Amino acid sequence: MYTTAAPDRPLFITGDPELLDDVLRLSAAAGVDLEVAADPTAARPNWSRAPLVLVGDDVAESLKRARLRRRAEVVLVGHDLDDVSIWERAVGVGAEHVALLPAAEPWLIARLAEATDLGVRDLIVGVVGGRGGAGASTLAAALAVTALNTDRRTMLIDADPYGGGVDLIFGGERAPGLRWPDIAMATGRIGGGDLCEALPCMGQLAVLSWDRGDPLDLPESAMSSVLGAATRVCDLVVVDLSRRFDEAMQVVLATADVVLLVVPAEIRATASAARIATAVTRLADDVRVVVRGPAPGGLLAIDVATTLGLPLAGYLKAEPALAARLERGEVPGGRGRGPLTDFCRHFLAELRQPGTAVVGAADAAAAAAGDGWW
Ligand SMILES: Nc1ncnc2c1ncn2[C@@H]1O[C@H](COP(=O)(O)OP(=O)(O)OP(=O)(O)O)[C@@H](O)[C@H]1O
Ligand SMILES: [Mg+2]
Repeated sequence: MYTTAAPDRPLFITGDPELLDDVLRLSAAAGVDLEVAADPTAARPNWSRAPLVLVGDDVAESLKRARLRRRAEVVLVGHDLDDVSIWERAVGVGAEHVALLPAAEPWLIARLAEATDLGVRDLIVGVVGGRGGAGASTLAAALAVTALNTDRRTMLIDADPYGGGVDLIFGGERAPGLRWPDIAMATGRIGGGDLCEALPCMGQLAVLSWDRGDPLDLPESAMSSVLGAATRVCDLVVVDLSRRFDEAMQVVLATADVVLLVVPAEIRATASAARIATAVTRLADDVRVVVRGPAPGGLLAIDVATTLGLPLAGYLKAEPALAARLERGEVPGGRGRGPLTDFCRHFLAELRQPGTAVVGAADAAAAAAGDGWW
């Protein structure tokens, strides 16, 4: 585990004193301290950080109107009043479960206990290209491989139905195991261990990718369930993002701790990346730019990042031989050296301070020189 944030408590949002009493009693039985917010405004600061959010049925409508970003691990809690409209409210707030009390009391106690077992929430890193062929999937794979090589339990998720399939990067398209079409209809909770065991392994790396069938738009619920499961068992989850920001993608962006935007050092790529950046920053808090060389017109990494108004995570020096090595089936990040691997190592080490841009003042000077990585 390599995050240092103080362990966050489950959040309960309700203004209903009776529901509050009931849930406090259950959290005491689970041995868990709750953060309580009386309404969506009070909940906002802890909404993303909490490992689990319980939403009282009394605030479901106002929460929907508050338009907090979608996240995984949300449970709508109400009393069993034979009111079927609660399911609509659950959908409205993006809840994966409805817990109707008193029947669901044992389940809720177990769920609360499990949420704090997790302790520190593990990290999700999303990678998106500023334009087609930017090198996003390659970087996502290299990050996952580098993390695995430093003993982090890692999962690589290919969330781009229109990409070439990240399993192909590993030559693993025939590896046995589940692909997205097998689990796209999943709703509710998936066991983290079960998911890891069911996925194809590329070496030691669990990879969730696509089959060779028709592209499929993922439902938001499937993405939430998978991310929930993945973060329960992994130290790091790397998601190769699509540039089509559908509902599933919005879940990833809203949940990711960091999103890396990969931009070739070219003017038109920067212009295209500006559009992607606008969409991504609408949902993701921490978005950083990775500029990839070569820079045929001499465009500086720092200028690309400045144009996009985002912090620079690093510059990937041109690695002309890498494309050929990838074609021959070499795994990105597998060599243990080179600009791509070096960037991944440095980035992962710096992730200990979530929310901090990797580039410091001294680094920015080196980036401006287009020299090396960091
Ligand atoms: N760091 C790199 N150094 C050199 N070449 C690279 C690097 N990353 C990617 N490439 C080259 O660019 C090609 C496209 O890379 P990749 O598939 O990772 O891009 P992408 O952004 O995921 O593309 P898509 O738009 O299809 O999702 C690779 O096949 C490889 O030839
Ligand atoms: Mg790709």
